[in-house]
Amino acid sequence: MIRVGIIGLGAVGDRLLKQFVHHPKTEVVAICDTNRERLQLIKKELQDVELYDDYKNLLLNPEIDLVYVAVPPKFHHQIVLATAKAGKHILCEKPLANSYVEAQEMHEAVKEARVIHAINFPLAYNDAVWELKRRVKEKTIGEIKRIELTMHFPDWPRVWQQNPWIAGREQGGFIREITPHYLQVIVELFGEIKHVQSFIEYPNHPSSCETGVIARLELVNGNTILIDGLSGVGRKEEILFKIYGEKGTIALKNWSVLEGENKDQERAIIDVPVNNELQDLISEIVNAINGEKARLITFKEGLDIQKVLEQLLESE
Ligand SMILES: NC(=O)c1ccc[n+]([C@@H]2O[C@H](COP(=O)([O-])OP(=O)(O)OC[C@H]3O[C@@H](n4cnc5c(N)ncnc54)[C@H](O)[C@@H]3O)[C@@H](O)[C@H]2O)c1
Repeated sequence: MIRVGIIGLGAVGDRLLKQFVHHPKTEVVAICDTNRERLQLIKKELQDVELYDDYKNLLLNPEIDLVYVAVPPKFHHQIVLATAKAGKHILCEKPLANSYVEAQEMHEAVKEARVIHAINFPLAYNDAVWELKRRVKEKTIGEIKRIELTMHFPDWPRVWQQNPWIAGREQGGFIREITPHYLQVIVELFGEIKHVQSFIEYPNHPSSCETGVIARLELVNGNTILIDGLSGVGRKEEILFKIYGEKGTIALKNWSVLEGENKDQERAIIDVPVNNELQDLISEIVNAINGEKARLITFKEGLDIQKVLEQLLESE
């Protein structure tokens, strides 16, 4: 049994808490949140779990094997460094850090501590994404012509993620929140991104996050990626990741719906087969901790993604 400590029990921490609780090989033994009301609520559900309002005290708990870091991005760095120092395995939320320099230090720290390190990128464990990757690798859509990511939101922050940081320029915004998921898929499929040009629209208030982005990225293999992000737009939320090939086009719509089209066939939903090879993230972490083969997105990949993210946020 892998004993888990969770730091940060907000929208996403709560989601993974349930998965850890229900997984047959993990047990949640400790939870930390600076918000004591959250702790009181969870105490009613999980009486046996140790509760902390300071992560440093949680890290002193010798029972914990794995720490899941689900605090807002600017706190990832300090908590991950302390967790690595405590010699505990780490699952960190994306984006890995709030800057490339922080991400580098975090990557160094986990290597030095020789702990298992992973980032929560749910698309890596998603059947539709697996099928998309398979079709691209097997050249079902032919040679790649272009990759496109559209992120349109009627409201940012979204209704389910109303919190003080996500609308702020310091660590929030949809560029930081959404693009890392797709950058991970792109880098895994097509390799390194060598060039980034981005044009960001900001509202007048200096501490508010972006309301628009248009960016052009270039892969080392020569392919172009186009990013179009907009919030406050009069339409339903749409996150569309599209890969145009010579023979066909394939798209992942709103995280899980796979669509395909070609010059003879209108766009249609693709029935995604259940992939028995694909395990969930928690099973993969358990495998890694037990010394078995595991499919994890590690801090190394997180660092590469952070580099592109920083260029996206800074280039003009
Ligand atoms: N992997 C995904 O699909 C996904 C989706 C959304 C968000 N995220 C990421 O998850 C992280 C958390 O996002 P969220 O939406 O759950 O945020 P949130 O604000 O809802 O939750 C964060 C929680 O951390 C607590 N916290 C803040 N600072 C703390 C500290 N120093 N010590 C202990 N607790 C602290 C807050 O009180 C809060 O309960 C972010 O990095 C975000 O980018 C990941």
